[in-house]
Amino acid sequence: MLWWILLGAILLIFGLFLLYNNVFTVHRYELQSEKLQKDLKIVLLSDLHNKVYGRENRPLLKRIASLRPDLIVIAGDLVDKRKPDIPVGVAFANGCGRIAPTFYLCGNHERERGTFGEICSRLRNVTVLRNEWVETCGIKLMGVTDHFELPFGEALQVLKQFEEEEGYKIVAVHRPADFYSELQVREHEIDLQISGHTHGGVAHLPFFGAIYAPGEGFFPKYSQGHYREKGTDLIVGGGLGNTRLPLRLFNFPEIVEISVKSKKTLAK
Ligand SMILES: [Fe+2]
Repeated sequence: MLWWILLGAILLIFGLFLLYNNVFTVHRYELQSEKLQKDLKIVLLSDLHNKVYGRENRPLLKRIASLRPDLIVIAGDLVDKRKPDIPVGVAFANGCGRIAPTFYLCGNHERERGTFGEICSRLRNVTVLRNEWVETCGIKLMGVTDHFELPFGEALQVLKQFEEEEGYKIVAVHRPADFYSELQVREHEIDLQISGHTHGGVAHLPFFGAIYAPGEGFFPKYSQGHYREKGTDLIVGGGLGNTRLPLRLFNFPEIVEISVKSKKTLAK
């Protein structure tokens, strides 16, 4: 009898890991701003780490397309440093580029393995943001490259120039820690920071949440979700893949959909 209970428990845990590491969800957030002339829908993707859902990531791309985003941001760790299968990551990013204007920035994995340059050279319809900003879809979007890919001081200098700009300003940066340390985005005139890196805390305890997140430590505050401090919003995506082992538990891989409602919609 005891053996059957043990076997059942092992099968249950195995099944839970299979489920939580291979089924993606859509996590939705809604923000408001009087700076926008029309509503904006952003899809935030991060930390794919070469993960493949179905054939050539088609189910994932199909789901992203069904959300009809105005723009897509891939916030780093597209390709894993331990198994750098560049074609998988590049095909996914190029697939996103066929759905909507797509912007990509370097994560720590591309930088640590030195794959960033090759990835960029293979991207076809994706804009790489390497400490620079663009005006698109009625907003301004700055992409910060991983801190050791270019000198940190350069990112800070560009951020200081960026905050002088008019309109709704978004900073995309791989690590959420830049919200409160290093770049300290919340201390600048920025409307929204979007990040990944934490994998949503990887394994969650039911009713409690994340135990540990890369870069955020144990019992992390900024592992996943919407935060607002000093007038700046931060949205941290839980990511789409894993590094090392598939240890997600009670934490599905996710596509993040951010809807920012405009002044006109707010007036209705
Ligand atoms: Fe990362």
